[in-house]
Amino acid sequence: TLKKRQVARLIREQLPSRVLEVLQELGVVGDALQCEVFAVGGFVRDLLLRQPNLDVDIVVEGDGIAFASEFARRQGCRIRSHQKFGTAVIIFPDGFKVDVASTRMEYYLEPGALPTVEDASIKLDLYRRDFTINTLAIALNGPRYGELLDFFGGQRDLEEKAVRVLHNLSFVEDPTRVFRAIRFEQRLGFRIGVHTEHLLRSAVRMGFVDKVGGARVFNELVIILKEANPVPAVARMAELQLLKYLHPALVLTPRIRQRFEEASRVIHWHELLYTGEPCQGWLVYFLCLTVELDKDAMEGICRRLAVPARYVGMLCEQRAEARSRLQSLERRRARGTRTKASELYQWLKPLATEVLLAMMAQAGTDEVRQQISHFFTHLRNVSPLLDGNDLLALGIPPGPQYKVILHHLLQARLDGRVLTRDDELALVRKRYFNRGGPKT
Ligand code: CTP
Repeated sequence: TLKKRQVARLIREQLPSRVLEVLQELGVVGDALQCEVFAVGGFVRDLLLRQPNLDVDIVVEGDGIAFASEFARRQGCRIRSHQKFGTAVIIFPDGFKVDVASTRMEYYLEPGALPTVEDASIKLDLYRRDFTINTLAIALNGPRYGELLDFFGGQRDLEEKAVRVLHNLSFVEDPTRVFRAIRFEQRLGFRIGVHTEHLLRSAVRMGFVDKVGGARVFNELVIILKEANPVPAVARMAELQLLKYLHPALVLTPRIRQRFEEASRVIHWHELLYTGEPCQGWLVYFLCLTVELDKDAMEGICRRLAVPARYVGMLCEQRAEARSRLQSLERRRARGTRTKASELYQWLKPLATEVLLAMMAQAGTDEVRQQISHFFTHLRNVSPLLDGNDLLALGIPPGPQYKVILHHLLQARLDGRVLTRDDELALVRKRYFNRGGPKT
């Protein structure tokens, strides 16, 4: 077991001084209010693993909201509190946040009655958690600062690189832990313990995951797809028979797996090329995972998982559109038919970045993949040099015609028929002017 001194040193060495000061101040406020304060959960796990994690989670033995208020008063922070859960978020002026929970639970025995307050201990709070590696806590109060609490073998499991539940009903109580187990296993390079895997498989077999509700399953899936490399986690989901909760027809064939690996390449390609341009990589993975499902099945998944409306268009309509475009491009390539840049533009422009990247990952040939990447790099942001003001200056009466002219100019530019502003002016004159003046 790590000694207080060693934990304090880890904190000093692994965390920015800013966080160190916050932790010490949390202890000071705990001393002042005479309640015990602990850093807990993933923050402690990652500290011991020497992995960066600045999401500070605090548990207070006593009234967490009163604690957060006092801390905020002293440090000039804001708080957002949830009376019902006894939790608060401390928000520093620069946006840095600390989550505070209480071991004190308030509940109402009947509606309108005064709340019954139950003071629990930190040990009970930790016992309610998902895996032993998440049950470690560090005491922050002055005299105890740096003391590591390890009631359930968390340190041993960190050393053994094992994801283990605390008790046999863990997955039954909260089946989303099935996904969390896989996520931690793959992210940390751990292994789900033998007994834990057995419990996990039983929970899956007995259909507990179905009881969770689509929206929560979707949420867990998205978190997995947002991991730095979600491919092995999805493979593990397939191995543990979890993909069928998304859709009965969903299986991870070698072909899909390959697409999936390709997705990770195109996402990184896009990231490097367009730093700062937002792209939701998880959507690209999701599109690749479901590539072999038809539109009905995809709509089924969206309904089942209560996928938010803002993604449904991309996952259903755009996906269908992309699929038929991809087929056309492949057919043309096979026949040796050239696709003009302006055509490519017209086909691909309506599609979201994520859908285009999924298309690239799914392209059957390098040529087609290159056509799509060419669209990204050379066509997508092209626009004519002339604008409405220039057309006005040329004496063309404003009206719907402007749109047509600008569209022609765009096509000419895409296909390389105009380069300079003068080229564009010449084209407009040639097409839209009679000898005397503008065509009407
Ligand atoms: N927790 C749990 N069961 C869940 C979700 C969370 O027991 N279904 C517990 C875990 O012990 C976890 C803590 O609540 O340590 C905080 O949850 P979360 O922030 O999701 O976990 P982290 O461990 O911080 O994970 P991450 O590193 O991915 O943020």
